Amino acid sequence: MSAQFIDGKQVSASVIAAVTEASALLEAKTGIRPGLAVVIVGNDPASHAYVSSKSKMAERCGFNSIQHSLPEDTSQEQLEKLVTELNADPSVDGILVQLPLPSSLDPDAVIHLISPEKDVDGLNVVNAGKIATGDLVTGLVSCTPAGAMLLINRVHGHDLSGLRAVVIGRSNLFGKPMGLLLLAANATVTMAHSKTKDLVAVCRDADILVAAVGRPKMVKSTWIKPGATVIDVGINRMPIADGENQKTRLVGDVDYAEAVEIAGAITPVPGGVGPMTIAMLMANTTIAAYRAHGLVAPLNFRP
Ligand code: GUN
Repeated sequence: MSAQFIDGKQVSASVIAAVTEASALLEAKTGIRPGLAVVIVGNDPASHAYVSSKSKMAERCGFNSIQHSLPEDTSQEQLEKLVTELNADPSVDGILVQLPLPSSLDPDAVIHLISPEKDVDGLNVVNAGKIATGDLVTGLVSCTPAGAMLLINRVHGHDLSGLRAVVIGRSNLFGKPMGLLLLAANATVTMAHSKTKDLVAVCRDADILVAAVGRPKMVKSTWIKPGATVIDVGINRMPIADGENQKTRLVGDVDYAEAVEIAGAITPVPGGVGPMTIAMLMANTTIAAYRAHGLVAPLNFRP
């Protein structure tokens, strides 16, 4: 039997529709649109592709979209100066510094400099700390986990009582906040990582298995409990043999062809979690913009 297909494109489109409406309403009320500033340093082509889709989507949502592309040799001081200026700019409601930064720069110092109210990535200690202490309401929740959670809600509803969830990966950007959101929804959570013993056995115990490891097709059907919900956060570019052409295709961390035969529900790559990240970034920017005017955004899809 084949698993239920969890359509991230469809869910993200409904988030984007609500955000676009909320953005227009804010402009009608205040004369001001939500403003998103995206900062990218260096020349990594994959990061540039992500950033340009974020900027384009911001425009589609009716935002004031600003992109700052800085050269590879930008100094820590120059980057921090830009973030300080964006913090002080009232036309900017959300600031996103695309990661990874070139190795000469310290990402933590930059992330912690972003005002918590404008930290639409939810990575600042204030926002990360709010999730850790169970406050999912007054801060900003990291976009990819928030989006993955919306997909999980589609399958299981909002109360995950009695379900075992396993997250593979423990990054600040994804694994840690994902584990905390699942915990807040009453799941029994295991955060697995590269040092976990018997990883396959740990994963096979999961009713909800979330993979964020960055290794193409690592999760095989033998890792999956029959009927489990599988959320694939991996975006890996694999070369495909095509004569002279250097083409690539996107594959997840899950071996989809195998997993679809055993899982109960599964996200595809592309078209699963990926579109949700951008949608939740737009939602966070709208939430931040409403708050900047002392208002509450009319968005009701919080994780
Ligand atoms: N790089 C890959 N994903 C993300 C993300 O969600 N936010 C930022 N800032 N950088 C990323």
